Amino acid sequence: MNKNIAVIRGDGIGPEIVNQAIKILDKVAELYGHSFSYTDVDMGGCAIDKYGDPLPQSELDKCTGADSVLLGAVGGPKWNDVPGDRRPEKGLLRLRAGMGVYSNNRPAKIWAQLADASPLRKEIVEKGIDFIIVRELIGGIYFGEHKTEDKDGLAVATDILKYDEKEIERIGRIGFETAQKRNKKLCSVEKSNVLDSSRLWKKVMHRLADEYPDVELSDMLVDNCAMQIVKNPAQFDVVVTENMFGDILSDEASMITGSIGMIPSSSLGATSCGLYEPIHGSAPDIAGKDLANPVGTILSAAMMLRFSFDMAKEADAIEKAVSDYLDAGYRTADIMSEGMKQVGCEECGRIILENIK
Ligand code: IPM
Ligand code: MG
Repeated sequence: MNKNIAVIRGDGIGPEIVNQAIKILDKVAELYGHSFSYTDVDMGGCAIDKYGDPLPQSELDKCTGADSVLLGAVGGPKWNDVPGDRRPEKGLLRLRAGMGVYSNNRPAKIWAQLADASPLRKEIVEKGIDFIIVRELIGGIYFGEHKTEDKDGLAVATDILKYDEKEIERIGRIGFETAQKRNKKLCSVEKSNVLDSSRLWKKVMHRLADEYPDVELSDMLVDNCAMQIVKNPAQFDVVVTENMFGDILSDEASMITGSIGMIPSSSLGATSCGLYEPIHGSAPDIAGKDLANPVGTILSAAMMLRFSFDMAKEADAIEKAVSDYLDAGYRTADIMSEGMKQVGCEECGRIILENIK
């Protein structure tokens, strides 16, 4: 198959980690008889420097015109004082909205080899950590009106959290369908004891439940969910939640698996053109030092093959190569532990590349 991939290296460690993932994609293409071409896209701080805009329309068009998009990370202290509507992160939000990728899938799965890297007690980890957070990605408070006003000398800031039932229904369906493919347990997370948007969320989820009788639906308040993720993560199979709750819970969930550097994500909408990115940020403190963990990005590339290109055995090959790399005792700094061999970003990529069969 021929596929064109829009590649956004972004800022900070973005270029280093994406370069490793591209090497792996090229190897897969060679071994399995595909051809991948890449279109470079500027987004984030680097685009602000170049065009004064974190995602000019021409760059967004390259993404929507590609078969899929691979993204490293954006942002950094250099752009902290840029006004809110032109921050690097705004480019990412515009990309998600522009691509219409409303469903963000973030797995929290512990690698057996990394059980010791989890900050949770052994007896909790031993029960297993393997769940998916399905996060609504293009609605809610991220996309409601934001404003800061001066009211008689008092600064007042407002952010609006708004959902309509259609937006809730389409992400709810993804939650139920994801659960159907797994252990058939869906936990809908909201704050219905306080928020109207959450009460609507809960109502829609229960309405949908009738259409998915094979899935067991439960409700959980977001504060309780934050607690349950560290207390008893084994209880979760699929969690479905709104944009900001999903942002927060997915960072928490990644940490209990050992390192945020290991976690990939996929974002999909109505078409097969998806957005694939690790869930970590641009880590400016370690950028350019060959210290970053490229595995989250490499596994994001595997998700792209699986979900957008229907290349399951190619995706399996990448995941197996990562597992073999861990088995051989290699670790980047973020997951380093006694007796293991520490490697940098380049070497990590090279070893995984060699493992691809
Ligand atoms: C994420 C990130 C982004 C988000 C930021 C960079 C805007 O934290 O993908 O989780 O909040 O969605
Ligand atoms: Mg986040």
